[in-house]
Amino acid sequence: MTGTGAPPFAVISGAQVRGALRGRERQITELVEDTYRLHGAGDSVNPPSYFLRFPDRPSARIIALPASIGGKLRVDGLKWISSFPENVAAGIPRASAVLILNDHDTGYPFACLESSIISATRTAASAAVAADWLSRGRPRPARVGFFGTGLIARYIHMFLAGTGWSFDEIGVHDLSAGHAAGFRGYLEKAGPGRITVYEDAEQLIRSSDLVVFATVAGEPHVSDPSWFEHRPVVLHVSLRDLAPEILLASVNLVDDVEHCLKASTSPHLAEQLTGSRDFLAGTLDDVMAGRVTVPADRTVVFSPFGLGVLDLAVGKYVYDEVTRSGELRVIDDFFHELRRYSS
Ligand SMILES: NC(=O)c1ccc[n+]([C@@H]2O[C@H](COP(=O)([O-])OP(=O)(O)OC[C@H]3O[C@@H](n4cnc5c(N)ncnc54)[C@H](O)[C@@H]3O)[C@@H](O)[C@H]2O)c1
Repeated sequence: MTGTGAPPFAVISGAQVRGALRGRERQITELVEDTYRLHGAGDSVNPPSYFLRFPDRPSARIIALPASIGGKLRVDGLKWISSFPENVAAGIPRASAVLILNDHDTGYPFACLESSIISATRTAASAAVAADWLSRGRPRPARVGFFGTGLIARYIHMFLAGTGWSFDEIGVHDLSAGHAAGFRGYLEKAGPGRITVYEDAEQLIRSSDLVVFATVAGEPHVSDPSWFEHRPVVLHVSLRDLAPEILLASVNLVDDVEHCLKASTSPHLAEQLTGSRDFLAGTLDDVMAGRVTVPADRTVVFSPFGLGVLDLAVGKYVYDEVTRSGELRVIDDFFHELRRYSS
């Protein structure tokens, strides 16, 4: 945004977001990787997320993720994302969100984007980046297992497939047989790979070299380290599934240490149990920069807290694509009181 005066304000719908991101798995994965590097180099501001919770609706929350990003993107903003798990039974997605983009020079908000798709996209892209980097140096996983089969699991599968992964075996496990069947139906249409629905969580993990946790568990429900004796790569996207004992027996990587060691995530529980952060090997950026080497003969667990800078980067990408296509819908006169002493 350049020039003088207040920038125009645009609203970007979910359909436009989807259109701008469809088929762009490789570009978005590269963008997310670049953003991790930028964040690792300190060219970002990413304060702690703020969790709004409600005494009368204990399972629900709305999270504010403010962030600022430098580099070529130079944009500030806020993701405001609700999680209401009971929505799923009512037939609508658990999460809903908007992303506000603020102009670097004036601070003016210049766009409001539907952001559940942006959020799922950046989460899935970060999982694909992690799967790639953390499995280098070991045989590329040919058996993937999805533990929890909602929207995030579907996006992660889409991003793995869209960035060149193919699997001989795809395992599926969910507390809800209906959700597992729905995900199976998606997988059957999505491409090759023998699909097995496991009622038994242990069997799913033992049958997978790449394990994706995408449940809504609030506290650990997997606690036996022997389930991981085949040393899989674990993408612990839902953050609270694994008991500290599993983490303590594994190589642990996060996206951002300060972010991840809070809000009763499994890494936070491991820190509380041991009184130290020694169980952490580092961040994904440390791995990408060569500061941390991932041993091939250990279980590796990546626990990404989810950074607002990723939402900003993907949101700005969408904004630029929609602008380029000529489809940007500007709200005329959104900012009204623009003269200091009136006219
Ligand atoms: N780390 C990040 O950056 C990030 C970003 C977005 C979402 N998430 C997390 O991803 C998770 C999944 O999100 P979603 O939108 O797909 O949710 P969703 O509600 O659509 O799906 C979750 C699925 O997990 C299943 N499930 C719940 N508890 C389970 C258990 N103990 N064992 C097996 N299955 C279980 C549910 O039946 C459901 O099918 C959420 O926890 C969300 O907070 C993380």
